[in-house]
Amino acid sequence: MAQFKLPANSTISEGKTFRAEGAKRVKRFRLYRWDPESGQNPRLDTYEIDLDKCGPMVLDALIKIKNEVDSTVTFRRSCREGICGSCAMNIDGTNTLACLKPIDDVADDVKVYPLPHMPVVKDLVPDLSVPYAQYASIEPWLKSETVPPPDKERTQSVEERAKIDGLWECILCFCCSTSCPSYWWNGDRYLGPAILLQAYRWLADSRDEHQGERLDNLEDPFRLYRCHTIMNCTKTCPKGLNPAKAIGEIKKMIVARN
Ligand code: SF4
Ligand code: SF4
Ligand code: FES
Repeated sequence: MAQFKLPANSTISEGKTFRAEGAKRVKRFRLYRWDPESGQNPRLDTYEIDLDKCGPMVLDALIKIKNEVDSTVTFRRSCREGICGSCAMNIDGTNTLACLKPIDDVADDVKVYPLPHMPVVKDLVPDLSVPYAQYASIEPWLKSETVPPPDKERTQSVEERAKIDGLWECILCFCCSTSCPSYWWNGDRYLGPAILLQAYRWLADSRDEHQGERLDNLEDPFRLYRCHTIMNCTKTCPKGLNPAKAIGEIKKMIVARN
């Protein structure tokens, strides 16, 4: 009979409950907690929050918990308005931005986990070293040999500029990559939808003159072709972008040049 052994720290136990005494409108937040220095397995702590004394978004509740209930809760956030990408986490089973997720959208307890299939630094903070290194590998900056005009910026026509709409808005939150099954299983070699959308952002830029070299860097069974068009990435993007389409455009460019 086959025997399966769960990896270390994969079993989650029930943790503490923090009650909101006297509150009239109570919502329960169930937070994934893991401290690598404790030597303990992860646990789910429960925090009752008085909705009459809390802002409308899940991030408002997390900040309230940290400020008023339990300062040990650890998560990333910065802008609080869907611009920085740092508050990406798994809320109610979906990867999204805590600052854009209304608490009222969740019918039951609000379950909050770190982005899936990434190593965890602590609590809700994933280790993003691999995707950041992958981002660096696509050289995400304008590469041009032509000397720019001395008295003005490099210009684009309206049509050329429109080609990078739906790409430049990406905030590198990695909600898409961490919802992609291909990235779960081959994240060390497959670049994943976030990085590939960024790669296409530079391929589609009329001012860039290194298209061939960029395509050479992507034409690989793992780096690009692990995408099987499952579309989880596009479904989950909290900015409404379409990484799967961008990946399709890269594949088309490779076919066209071959
Ligand atoms: S379309 Fe490609 S990148 Fe997007 S979830 Fe599916 S396999 Fe991953
Ligand atoms: S494409 Fe969307 S989900 Fe993916 S990193 Fe960019 S903003 Fe986040
Ligand atoms: S805090 Fe910046 S995107 Fe949520």
